[in-house]
Amino acid sequence: MERAARPLRVAVLASGRGSNLQAVLGAISAGRLGATVVGVFSDKARAPVLERARAAGITTRALPPTGFAHRLAFDAAMFDAVEEAAPDLVVCAGYMRLISEPQVTRMAGRLVNIHPSLLPAFKGLHTHRQALDAGVTRHGASVHYVTPELDGGPVIAQARVPVLAGDDPQTLSDRVLAREHPLLVETLRLFAAGRVALADDHVVVDGSPIHVPLQLDPDNALTPASLSDI
Ligand code: GRF
Repeated sequence: MERAARPLRVAVLASGRGSNLQAVLGAISAGRLGATVVGVFSDKARAPVLERARAAGITTRALPPTGFAHRLAFDAAMFDAVEEAAPDLVVCAGYMRLISEPQVTRMAGRLVNIHPSLLPAFKGLHTHRQALDAGVTRHGASVHYVTPELDGGPVIAQARVPVLAGDDPQTLSDRVLAREHPLLVETLRLFAAGRVALADDHVVVDGSPIHVPLQLDPDNALTPASLSDI
């Protein structure tokens, strides 16, 4: 299971702001994450995430979908570009496109996404509004393997936050985002240590399948959870 000592090669796909990328870069430069970001890829030429990446000296590639005959062709070109960077792991961090099945299959076990809800609850967009409308008292974020089903792949790890009286989508989003960043960093630390894998649609940690996602505790450690915690 243990990986060799070389840093985990991470490619990031993103469409927007890039705060998760920034958190990863911060952890790498602080010596807390044995990884290197080998490229940042976006479907949006003006995405702020690209500026953040360039400022950090990282290779970027913007590939807008205009000009491609269909989604399959666009996705193939995007993932050809990603593969040129030879990543060990591809992280979707605010990548606002559904990835078509052939590319998901090509990247199986090497493609993860961070989603702002406690999956399987609240897939898709506007998750904070969905959570408020549903009246839940707990919300959060998940890192999961990508499968062809939108936000439907096996969940590796989650971070929970309370929903507080008076929350609106912005206050809730801010609270979740503050936990997303350590959640992503800690999950990548697992990958960097070779401790997590996908086998037969199950997440395997330290050689054993997990039945519930790992949980980010208040000290930012990922710990096993029991079914009764869920
Ligand atoms: C995050 O909330 C992430 O969970 C979602 O999109 C947002 C991206 O934020 N998939 P950022 O671009 O990393 O700041």
